[in-house]
Amino acid sequence: MEMHEIIAIVTGGASGLGEATTRRIVAAGGKVAVFDMNEERGKMLVDELGEDHVLFLKTDVANAENVEANVAEAVSVFGKVNAVVNCAGIATPGKVVSKGGPMILDRFEQVIRINLTGTFNVIRVAAAAMMGNEPNAEGERGVIVNTASVAAFEGQIGQAAYSASKGGVVGMTLPIAREFAAYGIRVMTIAPGLVETPLFAGLPEPARNALEELTLFPKRLGHPEEYARLVESIFTNPLLNGETIRLDGAIRMQPK
Ligand SMILES: NC(=O)c1ccc[n+]([C@@H]2O[C@H](COP(=O)([O-])OP(=O)(O)OC[C@H]3O[C@@H](n4cnc5c(N)ncnc54)[C@H](O)[C@@H]3O)[C@@H](O)[C@H]2O)c1
Repeated sequence: MEMHEIIAIVTGGASGLGEATTRRIVAAGGKVAVFDMNEERGKMLVDELGEDHVLFLKTDVANAENVEANVAEAVSVFGKVNAVVNCAGIATPGKVVSKGGPMILDRFEQVIRINLTGTFNVIRVAAAAMMGNEPNAEGERGVIVNTASVAAFEGQIGQAAYSASKGGVVGMTLPIAREFAAYGIRVMTIAPGLVETPLFAGLPEPARNALEELTLFPKRLGHPEEYARLVESIFTNPLLNGETIRLDGAIRMQPK
């Protein structure tokens, strides 16, 4: 799929990796419906990039009715949707058992609800809308890119909930790609290492240096634009399907 033809839903598109993706799609002539909880940042993006190219819809990705209504709204404004980039996520850390006792179960469930159920929720509704698209010359009706994390493979102490949620995203990539192949909809997942987004803002210098030291090469945090470049590669290369790609400078996270 060519970048200028992309009409995407980008969840978490108001910040970090999602924002960089939104900017890259718009710069290449595509359109984006940003699904995010952060109204202030979402509206700033619309003001900056123009309402012909960006639509902000305040959305909780884990809410079924909210996503159903907002996918319908995006299709009604743009005429169709042919891409999804799932970036909405939270990274609430916590030990399974800490000095205060066992983790409150709601805390675990909230991470799963947003990162895993939220990703699935947007896929199920957006894919149903994509199935009615006219296929392009390659037979493609749509492309879906999810965001996992290297924590899906080497979660650290305190990442049980986060790793479980991201492992779930990796795990559902192939079965959904298999199901959607009949409709010409590809499904891919990116597993980033450490990328410099607001998640890292305010991190003390020594902690930042320690994280950079963990990365094999290049020895630095990733840039959100590097994530957006990989999204573009996935959009434009029809052979990429049903796989998770690590984007991590060969980092292998240690137990803590
Ligand atoms: N930055 C990294 O190093 C890194 C590494 C691995 C994976 N990731 C993953 O990449 C994704 C994006 O992370 P980021 O670093 O850009 O974070 P970020 O905090 O900058 O952006 C996340 C966005 O998601 C939105 N969001 C949170 N809950 C939501 C909900 N229920 N519904 C809709 N939107 C919601 C937030 O408002 C925010 O705008 C996350 O899934 C994260 O787990 C990030």
